[in-house]
Amino acid sequence: MPSATAIAHPNIALVKYWGKRSIPLNLPAVGSVSLTLGGYRTQTAVCWGTERDLVFLDNEPLLGGPAKRVLDFLDLVDPGRPQCEVRSDNNFPSGAGLASSASAFAALALAASAAAGKTLDPTALSIVARQGSGSACRSLWGGFVEWRPGERDDGSDSHGIPLAAADHWDLAMVVAVVHDGPKPTGSTQGMERSRLTSPFFHQWVQTSDADIAEAREAIAIRDLPRLGRVMEASTFKMHATMHTSSPPLLYWHPGTVALLHEVAAARASGIEAWSTMDAGPQVKVLCASADADAVAERLREHALRVDVLRPGGPARLVDA
Ligand code: DP6
Repeated sequence: MPSATAIAHPNIALVKYWGKRSIPLNLPAVGSVSLTLGGYRTQTAVCWGTERDLVFLDNEPLLGGPAKRVLDFLDLVDPGRPQCEVRSDNNFPSGAGLASSASAFAALALAASAAAGKTLDPTALSIVARQGSGSACRSLWGGFVEWRPGERDDGSDSHGIPLAAADHWDLAMVVAVVHDGPKPTGSTQGMERSRLTSPFFHQWVQTSDADIAEAREAIAIRDLPRLGRVMEASTFKMHATMHTSSPPLLYWHPGTVALLHEVAAARASGIEAWSTMDAGPQVKVLCASADADAVAERLREHALRVDVLRPGGPARLVDA
């Protein structure tokens, strides 16, 4: 029976996506810019034509809503599909604000379309992956990627665009994990709450284009302080929008705040390091590759675990 296996890496947004203009199609209210990270990866195998639909994550069967989300996604790849089996494995925690849905749906889009006998280019795959999870549309490429929100109602112009490959710039993202459990409110629900209730949501949308232009320029000329400043600004604006939602979305833990202070102290001591966070308590720190070990050492006393990740490559098919 036809089958295919793909690997994709998660990506961390440098300028954030938060808010949708269409929920069913995952069309964003704002553009975003990301860095794909090697080291963490999702590997997904899809068998096309099994006795019944089955989905496994890290060797455990997925049931209910999470399984349906995967199976509905297969229907997008081929509405007339047979029963399928999907086996996905992460080498990092799922659903804890470490972008596991990005690598998951990028790998699934690639593996499922190959198993279905379809040859899609990365842009077409990005459009498919986006419908599984918005941020997944950026994980088809390695390195630096922009996601333009697009204007069309059908989402055909809303996909990732590669800005620079992984080897463009010798950076590191140091990931400090302060809590391993699942996040209290998922991104889709959180974004919608912010859109409907935060008095800051309008300003968040209005200032996003300028942040993207700044990040694009900083990446092109490899200006780390410039990229770091706009990345931190985007993170704090997004979290201000979360905190002022009703009820508030508070993803931070005490360790989160300790880490944010540690990064500011590292910078005051002369290390170029900047913080970013997503819909979870973990803190990710962008720095020059040469400074990564020194940064990791400083973060360790506040974290359960610290991983040093470097820019990663595109999603790709592998032999099973
Ligand atoms: C905070 O892509 O997980 O990480 O489209 O609803 O699946 P859905 O959301 P998702 O949101 C990611 C939001 C973020 C910022 C970002 O990655 O840009």
